[in-house]
Amino acid sequence: MKRISLFGILALAIAACTSQKPNQGTTTEKPIVVTTSTNENLAQGKVLFENNCGKCHDLPSVTSFNDEKWKSVVDWMAPKAKLTAQQADMVYSYISNSN
Ligand code: HEC
Repeated sequence: MKRISLFGILALAIAACTSQKPNQGTTTEKPIVVTTSTNENLAQGKVLFENNCGKCHDLPSVTSFNDEKWKSVVDWMAPKAKLTAQQADMVYSYISNSN
């Protein structure tokens, strides 16, 4: 009996972990799609932006461009910063919500 209930708890724990994984695998070639941004995405986008976009030049100001221009800039710079499409999406969400 003890064994079974332990296994049950373990199975639940594993199920809980796997169901919380973000959607991955939908990367590259797709255009950047702006999904409904959660606060978590925005916070992560900010971190990605600050950590990756000031490496080769000064960190650009989010107010430098309008959203349309930012979209193409992020599209253009994401490969330079080695961001996945998903990460680029978060960076763009952060920028477009902050300017
Ligand atoms: C590997 C180096 C590198 C990384 C990382 C990088 N950039 Fe750049 N970035 C460049 C270079 C080089 C230019 C100048 C390109 C040119 O003018 O031909 C540039 C130009 C820019 C410009 C000016 C564009 C314009 O039209 O004036 C912006 C804005 C910019 N980057 C934003 C970003 C953002 C946002 C990120 C993070 C996602 C990023 N960069 C990451 C190398 C990088």
